[in-house]
Amino acid sequence: MKFLILLLVLVLFSVEATAAFSTVHMQNRCSYTIWPMAASTVSTPQAMSWKPNGLPIPSGKNLTFSLPKLLSVDLWARSFCPNTSGLCATGDCDDDYNCIPIATTMVRIISGSKQDSYAITLINGFNIPVLVTPLGNKGCSATSCSVDVNDRCPSELSVKDLSKDTIACKSACNAFKDNHYCCTGAFDNSKSCQPTSYSVFFDQACHDAISYKYDNETKFKTCDTGATYVVTFCP
Ligand SMILES: *[C@@H]1O[C@H](CO)[C@@H](O)[C@H](O)[C@H]1NC(C)=O
Ligand SMILES: *[C@@H]1O[C@H](CO)[C@@H](O)[C@H](O)[C@H]1NC(C)=O
Ligand SMILES: *[C@@H]1O[C@H](CO)[C@@H](O)[C@H](O)[C@H]1NC(C)=O
Repeated sequence: MKFLILLLVLVLFSVEATAAFSTVHMQNRCSYTIWPMAASTVSTPQAMSWKPNGLPIPSGKNLTFSLPKLLSVDLWARSFCPNTSGLCATGDCDDDYNCIPIATTMVRIISGSKQDSYAITLINGFNIPVLVTPLGNKGCSATSCSVDVNDRCPSELSVKDLSKDTIACKSACNAFKDNHYCCTGAFDNSKSCQPTSYSVFFDQACHDAISYKYDNETKFKTCDTGATYVVTFCP
């Protein structure tokens, strides 16, 4: 799972947003601190690890950074860092900061030469509600998963803290690691990869968000390049 390359460190503090970049404002409206992550979805030689617990966003604060053009990135937030194991209770994956976290709401932004596309994906589960609002360009619509899916998470998918509260909800792929739920192996095509009762659960909770690998492509919104994205956690 090394193909996610963390890059927020590279792009952070590139304050002068020009037309070549999308500016992202990560806004923390949760009552707790979050630790954002950004990873390129394609492998590059410039792999770079996120420093554990670097750059928290306290409750009520923003963090602004620029995304390079022509790159596909996943953005997410970790929460409850560090837990008793020294990791984040959600959004982390052991001590490997180049892996895809499980049970984590992710925002994917694919930057094209003329248009960006963006969606919220629950393919890796859910931890924190998110709203993505593009600003600055006409005709770009917001997308959100603003309900707290943790509240209704089936017990076989739920990630609990020490007081047994559900703090994240795994996808069925995360929980059962099986080709049928992950749409891998023989299921890695739109014909065999069909909704399951679990993907339907996520789709019903958050209809805008992608609930399984071959979910309806129209869940990706598009926007002319150069937009500013406000990514609000706990909107
Ligand atoms: C965070 O960013 C949003 C959108 O740009 C802005 O409306 C809000 O005032 C900012 N909040 C803080 C605390 O900086
Ligand atoms: C801490 O978080 C990690 C990563 O999510 C998890 O594997 C571990 O079980 C957690 N430990 C505790 C005590 O919650
Ligand atoms: C995808 O979503 C669009 C918009 O909601 C809908 O019109 C279309 O029928 C959907 N396609 C499939 C294959 O479900």
